[in-house]
Amino acid sequence: MNPFVGETERALSGAVADWTKNLAERIPAAEMEGALPSDLVAELGRLGVLGMTIPEADGGLGASAVAFALVLEELSAAWPSLAVGVAVNSGIVASSLVRFGSPEQRKRWLPKLMDGAGLGAFALTEASSGSDAASLRTTARRDGSGWRIDGRKQFITNARYAPFAIVLARVGEFDVKRTSAGITAFVVPLDADGVSIGSSERKMGLRASDTSALILDAARVDRDAVLGEEGNGFAIAMSGLDGGRIGIAAQSVGIARRALEIARAYAKERKQFGRPIADFEGLRFRLAKADSDLAAARLLALRAAWLRDRGRPFTREAAMAKLYASEMAQRATHAAVQVLGGNGYMRDYAVERYARDGRATTIYEGTSEIQRIVIARSLLAA
Ligand code: CAA
Repeated sequence: MNPFVGETERALSGAVADWTKNLAERIPAAEMEGALPSDLVAELGRLGVLGMTIPEADGGLGASAVAFALVLEELSAAWPSLAVGVAVNSGIVASSLVRFGSPEQRKRWLPKLMDGAGLGAFALTEASSGSDAASLRTTARRDGSGWRIDGRKQFITNARYAPFAIVLARVGEFDVKRTSAGITAFVVPLDADGVSIGSSERKMGLRASDTSALILDAARVDRDAVLGEEGNGFAIAMSGLDGGRIGIAAQSVGIARRALEIARAYAKERKQFGRPIADFEGLRFRLAKADSDLAAARLLALRAAWLRDRGRPFTREAAMAKLYASEMAQRATHAAVQVLGGNGYMRDYAVERYARDGRATTIYEGTSEIQRIVIARSLLAA
């Protein structure tokens, strides 16, 4: 029972949980190959999952943020690499287009985030601007009837299979006193002239989720590529990340949950010293604490989503959810590896993959340190 979850939300997440039951056999090869299987992405499109955050009037499911968080928990429990692709596509890119896109942009681009032919990308980070996102150096200059964009975006999820990316670039000079000034969001088709994709990163985890550089070398986009107001791109990126952080909290919950489920089953089966290791108090207490932390993290994620659904401010609550849930996922996945002992360190039992995949959750969409900054600023303001 959960006070934030209604019948429709339960039904949607239940349907996705059922769908994930057949994924396991696809995971090892895709993780080795470093790419999400296109047929599964297409299926998520057909099922409506990719359009969950898009209103019905735009052809999506128009589901609540609570429902989307629950679905991301299920996808992450099954396969974190797949979940992060969906989180970026639907949590950040689609939501930003829905909130800030013109009717023409919505009509042109939203279907491409739902049809399952690819997954949208969000290009904010650069080599020298990670946590200090406003220091980005990619430039956009007016050029004839459109824009010319130059820069190199780094660590871009989905870029390799994205139809387009939301790219943050600076219009005008860098102002040291107000670094976010001039930052503008552009919808950049990835087949535009001057756009190319760098080589895929080799990562600790989430290996089936592609992460590449996005290179803009005199990239040409039309005048109508600006998303929202010119110069308002930083606020668009930040509010996109507010929503995205609920998704990463939900992802952390899914990862931790599945790792603990594996550990619980193993502890009941595995016998040492003549009895199941689940009988030993050290292990019982560890699992009890992990289970309590998991429940708390889920409630924080759903609280932030619930506030969002009601149009109430949720920046601080999303940061709290991401901070708590991602740190919880570190403890939970490491506890799971420890419960399985030597087997936990081996690939056959999957907990080592959940520990590697979960490691990203305290880093991307703003490190734990950035979440603390966001929470402290809100807490100490006024
Ligand atoms: N919503 C709307 N506007 C916001 C906002 C929010 N949540 N937060 C800040 N803003 C606005 C401010 O109001 C301010 O506007 P004005 O100048 O008009 O007053 C402007 O943005 C600048 O705000 P700050 O002074 O707070 O900016 P800052 O430089 O101090 O940065 C920060 C704040 C929170 C540290 C921010 O840089 C940040 O979040 N950094 C982390 C970046 C990040 O999360 N990157 C993730 C990359 S994407 C990713 O990981 C996705 C993936 O592929 C998995």
